[in-house]
Amino acid sequence: MDLGFIGLGNMGYAMAQTLLRAGHSVALWNRTRARAETLAASSGARVAESPAGAARGAEVVLTSVADDAATAAVVLGTGDGEAEPLIRGLAPGAVHVSLSTISPAVSKRLDEAHKAAGQEYVAAPVIGRPDAADRGELVVLAAGPAPTLDRCAPVFGVIGSRTHRLGGSPERANAVKVAANFVMAAMLEVFGEAYALAEGYGVDAAALLGVLEDSMLRPEVLDAYGKRIAKSDFKPAGFRLKLGLKDVDLALGAGESAALQMPFASVLRDRFLVAIARGLEDQDWSAMARTLPHRRAA
Ligand SMILES: NC(=O)c1ccc[n+]([C@@H]2O[C@H](COP(=O)([O-])OP(=O)(O)OC[C@H]3O[C@@H](n4cnc5c(N)ncnc54)[C@H](OP(=O)(O)O)[C@@H]3O)[C@@H](O)[C@H]2O)c1
Repeated sequence: MDLGFIGLGNMGYAMAQTLLRAGHSVALWNRTRARAETLAASSGARVAESPAGAARGAEVVLTSVADDAATAAVVLGTGDGEAEPLIRGLAPGAVHVSLSTISPAVSKRLDEAHKAAGQEYVAAPVIGRPDAADRGELVVLAAGPAPTLDRCAPVFGVIGSRTHRLGGSPERANAVKVAANFVMAAMLEVFGEAYALAEGYGVDAAALLGVLEDSMLRPEVLDAYGKRIAKSDFKPAGFRLKLGLKDVDLALGAGESAALQMPFASVLRDRFLVAIARGLEDQDWSAMARTLPHRRAA
C-alpha cells in the first residue's frame, strides 16, 4: 500500500520501520529531518518535504507526533512552522490515521476538518512501547467509519497484534486510550505507596511484588473486578465495603507509624466514606468505584 508517515519519534520511527519491513511503500516526514533521512537510508523510503508531501499520493497517511498542538500543527497547519500541512496534500477519499495519544476534542476537530475536505479520518491510538511497535505487537484502539477501518486493517495488522474497534466516532478511541493510560498511571502511584509501606516495615519491594503476583495482580482477579465494576454487579458481596474501609484505614495507620504519606490511600478513604454514606456498606467493596456521578454520552 502507498503510505505516508508523519512523526518519527520513538514510536513513529519504530512503526514506520515495521511498515517498511512488511513491504509497504512509505513517504516519511519528521520535523527534525535527520531522523527521516536515517530511516530512509536504511530502508530506501522517500523523505517528503512537508506533511502535505508525505500525504500526496498516499492511500493512508499516519501521524504519530507528540500531542494535541503538534497534531493540529502537522495536520491543519496551526503551528508557526512553514511546512505545508497534511490536509492540503491528502487526496479526496484518502485516509488520515492519527496514532497519537491526543484529546477527544482535537480528534473531533480533525474529523470535522477531514470531512469538510472530502477525506476520511480514523483515530487509532496505540498501547505498547517502542519495542512492541518494532515487533508489530501493539494494541490498536481504532474508531471511525466501518468501511474506512476495513481499509486500514492491513496497516493495523502490521503494527499491532490486536485491534479493538470502538465505533464510528473517532474521538471514542481517544477517550478509551486516555482512560486506559489513566489506569496505568494510577497503578504506578499505587505501587509506589504500597512498596513504601512494606519498606517502612523492613520488607523489600520485591517481596511484596512476589505476594501480589500470586494474588491481587493475577489476571483473573483483575479481570473479575474489572467485569464487576463494568456491570455494576456488587451483590452479593465477596468482600464487604465496610471491611474495605477498615483495610484502607489500616494501611493509612501503618503508613503513619512509618512516617509515610499515602496520598492515594487518603483519596481512597474519602471515596469509601462516600460509598458508606450512600448506604453501600454491605455491598462488594468494588461498589465504591461507581459512586461518582457522570454523564453518559448517547
Ligand atoms: N513512547 C511510548 O511508549 C508511547 C506509547 C504509546 C503511545 N505513545 C504516544 O505516541 C505519540 C508519540 O510518542 P513518542 O514516544 O514517539 O514521542 P517522542 O519520541 O517524543 O516523539 C515526538 C514526535 O513528535 C514530533 N513533534 C513534536 N512537536 C512537534 C511539532 N510542534 N510539530 C511537528 N512535530 C512535532 C517530534 O518531532 P522532532 O523529532 O522534530 O522532535 C517527534 O517526531 C505521543 O502522542 C505519545 O503519547 C507513546
